[in-house]
Amino acid sequence: MTVNSEEDIKKLFAAGKVVRGAFERMKQAARAGVSTAELDTIGGHYLKNHGARSAPQLYYDFPGATCISVNEEAAHGIPGPRRLADGDMVNIDVSAELNGYVADMGESFIVGKGTPEQEQLCYAVQSAVKAAIEKIRSGRSLNVIGKAVQKIADKFGYEIVENLGSHGVGNSIHEEPSYIPMDNPMERRRLDEGLVLTIEPFFSTGANRVEEQADGWTLCVPEGDLVAQFEHTLIVTRRGALVVTA
Ligand code: CO
Ligand code: CO
Repeated sequence: MTVNSEEDIKKLFAAGKVVRGAFERMKQAARAGVSTAELDTIGGHYLKNHGARSAPQLYYDFPGATCISVNEEAAHGIPGPRRLADGDMVNIDVSAELNGYVADMGESFIVGKGTPEQEQLCYAVQSAVKAAIEKIRSGRSLNVIGKAVQKIADKFGYEIVENLGSHGVGNSIHEEPSYIPMDNPMERRRLDEGLVLTIEPFFSTGANRVEEQADGWTLCVPEGDLVAQFEHTLIVTRRGALVVTA
């Protein structure tokens, strides 16, 4: 969506605050022995108690309130009986609709103590999002995002997952621009003033693609590869990005 008023901005920030709140409570509870279904219940209740509706449920009939992906699972992991263990890399992605406005955020982190390799991957993908956010100005090419992300991936030697990417959001969960790829010099689209979008690269230590699993949802990299995502929803302005999920 493109925001047209202070009202739009206020309501997007309200949606952003709720997804952030759900995420933080889930992350806090993510310890060894806790199942991903238990985490999802925490997030689902939080959304409901704040008057929000889970976007994956609302728009895609996803079998969970949030997406929880563990280790080789990159995205759209279905919450279930799997219990977290120390050293697991977990991605929690929370998106929700509140009063007609949708915000989307996600983060990969490690349960307990991680390896230096896991820590670096999470750090790198967060740095990439921060670098891309700093490049946001209305009027610039959409490609400033892919370019900034690519630069960080190259610096650390990671692959960017090509078949997942950032997207427009705000009135619904996935809007135009529907897919914002990695660095693409042919990109002609621009960052219009007021555009609402996510920035959410996925970095991997091996594969540059994810494959859908037999459950019809979970997207995985090959076993042995590590994958991490970081995601914010933001509004494009002349002066920079307003991050609504911080
Ligand atoms: Co997203
Ligand atoms: Co998301």
